[in-house]
Amino acid sequence: MRNSLIILLFAVALWMCGTGQSGEKTDRATSIKTQQYQIQGEKLYAKYCAQCHQANGEGLASLYPPLNKSDYLMKDLARSACVIKNGAVEEMVVNGKTYNQMMPPNPQLTPLEIAEIMTYITTSWDNKGKLVDVKDVEKWLKMCE
Ligand code: HEC
Repeated sequence: MRNSLIILLFAVALWMCGTGQSGEKTDRATSIKTQQYQIQGEKLYAKYCAQCHQANGEGLASLYPPLNKSDYLMKDLARSACVIKNGAVEEMVVNGKTYNQMMPPNPQLTPLEIAEIMTYITTSWDNKGKLVDVKDVEKWLKMCE
């Protein structure tokens, strides 16, 4: 009886060690992946987005809406992925301000590139987002093909 209790305790201890380690491993893997996405995303942002939304994400006057602290961007990431891919022509309200210029579509961007850009813009400046995974972007884009 006593022996089996010791074995049981030992097994529980081993199990706890095991889950602790794999948990840490996933955290580390996620943070490496997030950094990779951010680095790629920053380059893509400079190439495809910064001329309008500006390097600091503040947008430009009443022409281009901000991405920094944008309620529109963060509220519905699926909708934002679709705007990035397909552009936008309708009037939209961002942080209480109405914008109605056209945003051109980006048919050349792959789901991975969109995920990288989205990770970059939702975790940069004052934005406090997290990794936007390519798997989610693929799913979201199907809703606006
Ligand atoms: C030619 C200028 C231009 C470029 C380039 C551009 N955008 Fe936009 N973007 C706009 C305009 C204008 C709107 C508002 C559209 C409307 O009113 O329908 C907008 C809206 C948005 C929105 C939703 C509103 C907000 O501010 O949260 C997001 C997100 C966005 N753009 C991200 C991007 C990303 C990411 C890129 C690069 C892949 C990009 N845009 C490239 C002009 C641009």
